[in-house]
Amino acid sequence: MKQSYFEIHPWALATHKFNDTTNLVTESLTSIGNGYMGMRGNFEEGYSGKSLKGTYIAGVWFPDKTRVGWWKNGYPKYFGKVINAVDFISVKITIDGHAIDLATTPYEDYYQQLNMKNGILTRSYTVVLSDTKTRINFSRFLSIKTKELAVQQIEFEQIAGNSTITVESQLDGTITNQDTNYEETFWEPITSTIEQNALFLSLKTKANPFGTERFTVSALTDLQLTVNASPQLKKVNDLLLSDTREFSLQEGTNASLLKRTVIVTSRNIPDSEHQTTAKKILADTANNFADLEQEQTAAWLKRWATADIEINGDDAAQQSIRFNLFELFSTYYGEDSRLNIGPKGFTGEKYGGATYWDTEAYAVPFYLGVSEPKVTRNLLLYRYLQLPQAKHNAAEQGLAGALYPMVTFNGIESHNEWEITFEEIHRNGAMAYAIYNYTNYTGDDSYLAKEGLEVLVEISRFWADRVHYSKRKKQYMIHGVTGPNEYENNVNNNWYTNYLARWVLTYTKHAYETYGAQSSVDVSSKELAKWQDIIEHMYLPADSELGIFVQHDTFLDKDIRPVTSLPSKDLPLNQHWSWDKILRSPFIKQADVLQGIYFFGDQFSFEEKKRNFDFYEPLTVHESSLSPSIHSIIASEIGEYDKAIEMYNRTARLDLDNYNHDTDDGLHITSMTGTWLTIVQGFAGMRTWNGELSFAPFLPHNWSSYSFHINYRGRTLQVIVSSIVTIKLVVGETLPIKLYDKNIDLTDTIKVSLK
Ligand code: BGC
Repeated sequence: MKQSYFEIHPWALATHKFNDTTNLVTESLTSIGNGYMGMRGNFEEGYSGKSLKGTYIAGVWFPDKTRVGWWKNGYPKYFGKVINAVDFISVKITIDGHAIDLATTPYEDYYQQLNMKNGILTRSYTVVLSDTKTRINFSRFLSIKTKELAVQQIEFEQIAGNSTITVESQLDGTITNQDTNYEETFWEPITSTIEQNALFLSLKTKANPFGTERFTVSALTDLQLTVNASPQLKKVNDLLLSDTREFSLQEGTNASLLKRTVIVTSRNIPDSEHQTTAKKILADTANNFADLEQEQTAAWLKRWATADIEINGDDAAQQSIRFNLFELFSTYYGEDSRLNIGPKGFTGEKYGGATYWDTEAYAVPFYLGVSEPKVTRNLLLYRYLQLPQAKHNAAEQGLAGALYPMVTFNGIESHNEWEITFEEIHRNGAMAYAIYNYTNYTGDDSYLAKEGLEVLVEISRFWADRVHYSKRKKQYMIHGVTGPNEYENNVNNNWYTNYLARWVLTYTKHAYETYGAQSSVDVSSKELAKWQDIIEHMYLPADSELGIFVQHDTFLDKDIRPVTSLPSKDLPLNQHWSWDKILRSPFIKQADVLQGIYFFGDQFSFEEKKRNFDFYEPLTVHESSLSPSIHSIIASEIGEYDKAIEMYNRTARLDLDNYNHDTDDGLHITSMTGTWLTIVQGFAGMRTWNGELSFAPFLPHNWSSYSFHINYRGRTLQVIVSSIVTIKLVVGETLPIKLYDKNIDLTDTIKVSLK
């Protein structure tokens, strides 16, 4: 059932009501981040109701000991977790001795707003005590200009009566993760000092048996008030520091506090320099909220100028695309090649790990379109630098070459469910596909010629070893896999996996023939001949009667029936059905055959696309957030516009409306790219096959227009779709493009009627 948590507004998430039963969801939805750090929308003053506290620092993780019921050889020894870091936003408040807590304190006139234009989260309410009324207004943001800086302002307005107010600013290192396997804590104190009205707390991740890197995170915070209130700075214990101020407010008067916190980590700065560096950053920072807010707004404005998608006629759709872009940029803006995009970003603990195949399959095409090529190149380099670990992962499974992990921080597989760790190997193909995507989109083959070729050859070696030859069928097969549809395991010949493996071998062979001589990579002629044999004899399940590719060998023998035959109380299946019932069912978690048709859209006819879509879409429950966007893009291409729009809304408002009933855990960051892809590749029909840029737009019936910018081969283009399609060359040289079926040299602006 669709539920809205915030009012519809083109640039904001806003609400006039606080609902304690949905606080976990709204905490996720009001997450903010700046690529370097991020946090859920927790309340600064504390909240004793249901809440998941979460402050995360990019790239800071812990190897939590694996917990499984039945150990299987080859399981990774640990699960890399995104860990909750020092809570630095905490400012406890009392008014006339009453501790302020929305679960217990009487209040009125609640308002909360996440302003997506500048990333500032505000919240206000009036505390109503027996003789007094005090309005409190909280604002906070994580700076884009100075990545280490968090800024908070709390304003008090005394509406009725006189009150004595205390504020207690904290640095709290007593934090835990809710998803620890053995209820362990991950941090130990290093230093805690109090000097010149500032608190400094330094924590280090605990030593671990796996010898992985340890991280030190240090926070320096100060507090300034507009009223006289002498500081009482206190070390409560090695993990908790506080700064308390007390002041009185007469009716009609105001007070305001500014809390600035600087976070530095051992990822960038040696531990011994944390305090001096943090002090310097703080000293160089404006010490009034108005200036800091202005810098923040200017920085976000610059991002929006090139990345915004404007939709007219549908504010809900407008809000959702901006929300998705906002959260994506809050998670990753391509500034640090050691970082990647975790499925939950900075919004929750679930999934662990920093990197999934989601990056290569879903984030790469998005970042190619909205940012400079170097951002995507950084994402590719991240995998290149982890090639030795990928070879280790393959060796752990007794296989040749490289197997990129399903879940990782450092390249070593850290996922430990056999059906995923050992079987969901299609992920390896996505790594190769991203290299192709980058090269084809940008026209820059320098990555492919060097780093890319090394990666491709090792991935190909893996596939050549993982296939087996069926003497009976005289074809190569891949048994015992899990395709993208995780609602089936241990299947034989998943069409998507087999097709992808064959494509990887073909692409690698061609790349080796083109660039091999000038590279350090050596592939023997015997190996090349083996690859060619696999390419020519790969088994790909298909059904000639239905005219479709078959998801895997026995899929068609299932009790095939559409999702619409299920009572709605059964959905989502993963919350209502036993796992074995799901596995036996024909219901598909996410695009599987259709994922392949999407990746290789130039290799299939319109009829093939339509037949497969018509067969698989009715069976798909879209219980992975990654799914609806792919279905929407294919639906647009085959002219099923209503379906395309339905799937757009589902992907775009997945979190805003909590479609899959799991937004309380955090947001679905990697699938947010799907919203952009749905508009650009789906509605506007943008394709780049063989280096040719083409568009075939349609306009969703309830929109009056939409427009976006893309970067393509040194150009910036603006596309505006209303009853007229306008394509403007904003920056760069003349570009040949195709609009519908017409070839055009784009020199300035072209306009054609919408088809
Ligand atoms: C999906 C995977 C995805 C993972 C992280 C799972 O639910 O089935 O394809 O990689 O979530 O987003």
